[in-house]
Formats: sequence, C-alpha cells, structure tokens
Amino acid sequence: MVLVSNSHLSYARGRDRLNETRAKHMSEQGYKHPQGNVFYRKMDHGRPCVAHAEGVYITTVGGKRVLDASGGPIVVNVGHGRREVTDAMRAQLESAAYVHASMFTSDVIERYCQRLAAIVPLADARFFFLSSGSEVIEAAIKLARQLQMARGHSGRDLIISRTQSYHGMTLGALGVSGRRGLRAPYVDMMRDTPHVSPPYTYRDPRSGAEYAAELEQTIVAAGADSVAGFLAEPISGASLGGALPPDDYWPAIREVCDRHGVLLIADEVLVGLGRTGKMWALDHWGVTPDILVTSKGLAGGYFPLGFVAARGADVEQLRLELGNFNHGGTFSHHPVGAAAGLAVLDILEGEGLVDRARVMGERLTSALRDRFGDHPNVGDIRGRGLFQGLELVADRDTKRPFAAKHKVASHVHHTAFDDGVSVYYSQGCVDGTDGDLVMFGPPLIIDESHIAEMVEVAGRAIDAVTHRVLASD
Ligand SMILES: Cc1ncc(COP(=O)(O)O)c(C=O)c1O
Repeated sequence: MVLVSNSHLSYARGRDRLNETRAKHMSEQGYKHPQGNVFYRKMDHGRPCVAHAEGVYITTVGGKRVLDASGGPIVVNVGHGRREVTDAMRAQLESAAYVHASMFTSDVIERYCQRLAAIVPLADARFFFLSSGSEVIEAAIKLARQLQMARGHSGRDLIISRTQSYHGMTLGALGVSGRRGLRAPYVDMMRDTPHVSPPYTYRDPRSGAEYAAELEQTIVAAGADSVAGFLAEPISGASLGGALPPDDYWPAIREVCDRHGVLLIADEVLVGLGRTGKMWALDHWGVTPDILVTSKGLAGGYFPLGFVAARGADVEQLRLELGNFNHGGTFSHHPVGAAAGLAVLDILEGEGLVDRARVMGERLTSALRDRFGDHPNVGDIRGRGLFQGLELVADRDTKRPFAAKHKVASHVHHTAFDDGVSVYYSQGCVDGTDGDLVMFGPPLIIDESHIAEMVEVAGRAIDAVTHRVLASD
C-alpha cells in the first residue's frame, strides 16, 4: 500500500493544475512537443519552433514574438541577425571552410589572435580554440597540469574549485563543477577533487579574506605540491545568479595562489567579454589570472566557439620543456569560428558595447530595485552590468527558500515566456536542491524600453507563480 500525505496530495493537485494551464497555453500558441526524433535535454516541456531572430527578439513559426532577455544561456551579446557577422562567416566559408589546425594556420585566425591579445590581461597571450565552454575548461585543466609539469612540478595535478559552480558538461569539467544535482549520477565516475565555498554573501556573509583563508587551508590540507590550479568564476554565473564577491576576495585569492604556486584559472565563459560592464569580470578587482577561459559570447551564438588563453612566456616554456600541448580537437581553431569571433569583436568594440553593458546594467539594477526591492518573495537582487539575478524565497525575513518540488524558477521562466519574455533560471543555489534564481542576460544592444518590458513581464510571472505556490502550500 502506498501512503500519500494530504500535503503531498494538495501539492500534486496544484502541480497538475499548473501543468494543465501550461498545456492549454502551449497548444493555443502552436508549441511543438519534442515527440519526434530530436532528443532534447529537458523533456518535461515542449518548445516553440523558431522562425526568425533579429536584434533582441525571436519570432516563432506561430508568429509569437519573444524578447530574448537572457540571450539563450547568456550567449547573444551583439544581438540576433547581424549581417556583419554572417557576411564575414560566408566569406570565410567560401574561401576555406575548414582546415585542420595540425596542418594549416589561416590568416583569419592569426588576425583574430592579434586582436584578442590586445584585450586579454595576459602578456603576449596565446589562444587555443575549441567549440564550447566545457571543452575549453577541459583544455584549461590540462594546460594548468602541463604548465606545472613544464615548471618541474610533475606532482601537481589537482584542481581546486568551488561548490555551487558550473564549469561544463563533460566529465572533466563536471568533475570540477560544484552543482550537486548535475553531478549526482556520475559522481563515482569522476575524480574526487576539493571544492571550497563560493562567495555567496546573501547566505554566507564572510569577508574575502575569510573565504581566501578557506582556500589556503584546503591547499595545505591537499598538500601544496599536489595542487595545479584554482578554478573559479570571477562573478558566479547561473549557479548563484550573479553573486558578487566581497571587494577583497579576488586580491586575497590571488595572493593565496601566488604563495602556494597554484595557477589561478578564471572561468569567464559566462561573465567575460563585456557582459558585466568591463571586458573581463576580474577587471572589476584589478586581478589578473594565469589562465583565462571564455566562450558563450565569444562568437555571439553565430558559431560554437571558446578559447583558453595563457601568457606567451608560459606557453613558450611548455613548448621548450614538453614539446607540445598534449590536447587536440578536430574542430579546434576553426577558421569560420575565427571569422565569426572577429566580426563579433568588431561590433563589441565599434559600438562600445562593453560600456553600454555598464550603463544599461545600472538602469537594469534600478529597474529591478524599483520593482522587486520590497517584494516579499525576492530575497536578493544581485549581479553586475547585464548579468543580474533575483533569488526567490518563500519567506524574505528568514530567507527560507521554496521547496524544490515547486519548481518555482522553472514556472516563472515558462510563465514569462508565454507572456513574451525569455528569462534564464536555475534551481539549487542554496544547497544543491532548493533555491530559485531568475536571471537576466540580454544582448548588450538593449535599450531602456527593453529593460522596462523584461522587468514588467518577469514581475508579473513572479507574482503569479509565487502567489499560486504559496496558496497551494
Ligand atoms: C561559467 C561556465 N563555465 C562553463 C560552461 C560550459 O559551457 P558550455 O555549455 O558551452 O559547454 C558554462 C555553461 O553554462 C558556464 O556558465
């Protein structure tokens, strides 16, 4: 016999009502369900078929227009439908669509790297390109290991990272990620590396020095001569929704790494390339990493592209000591990717989008504070530039999160989506299970009317969903 509590039954009835409402909406709006041969990650909902995307809007086959308030998963920085980018890609496709990096270089990749060298804070930087954030994180882990070997520290093969972090889907990158829910089925397949706390001052109000002391203790406990690198997001991405470190955090972390010969690896996959109002998120604290990784906005969604970068002197030492970088990739250093990335960089610089992210970010902060500053279910408003997040709570005074079973953030996303605005969301920020985040990461070309639209629609969705969930509890 299965015993089901009353509260569980009432929750299940509430959930069924929500699902029925969504199913009705979806069929009215001509959504397609993933019942064909496509295998999508999220199988609990359908998705509309895209017809066209231009600027900050995406139009579906059914004619519905959606404001892309998150640029997908914080990817679309120069906007959709930019002819400058597609023209550059087409020209490259027509001249040489593909060559393998072990056999050829290309003019476009050489030019692109020269331009990138001027914007990364690494002397005489060198760039290794792959096709996703996960892949360049993998490459960064291997690079840290090999730079340590080139320095004569062959015992250093451990990467320390942080809980509540995400560095990618592949087993190496997931292994250093801290998101418990995503790791769960694979834990025994990954190396058990140490994780330290991320700066999450809303729930863990410590100084940067205290967080850095935790890192130092972890390095010492592991044995400094076994640690290759410390990997972290300069401003937390989707796992903590733009949680900002205390101002003394990054300088203190840099000092700890230097003291113990540990390479500092900055995961700027989500927050890099102007997203937070500076070219690199670490620039907010004037700190330079040893290895810098970025991806999402690098080619703005026009091509799957990411790079890992290191100082020229370090790469040269690797060459002299080890001969080659022991890594690879059929599609590494893709010339069409370089053409796309170069065109996106031209737009980023030519249109002053990094500064625009700062200015529009300030407007977004004000709009969020005006709308949610006193909201009973918005515990924290955080982030920088055009990456900002709201942490939703059941009780603002005690900071009690909603129970995960309610899937509050997911419902907010879907409700806002139906209402014409796509926001980003995640769940589990508090303890890997509970904790709802709604995030904004729009194209950097947005204007104030878009900010007003996205805050208004997100506000309506948050009101409706939190009200419904609290009433069903
Ligand atoms: C900070 C961070 N690092 C790495 C990744 C992995 O990137 P990708 O999904 O392109 O493999 C992500 C993706 O969300 C990310 O946010």
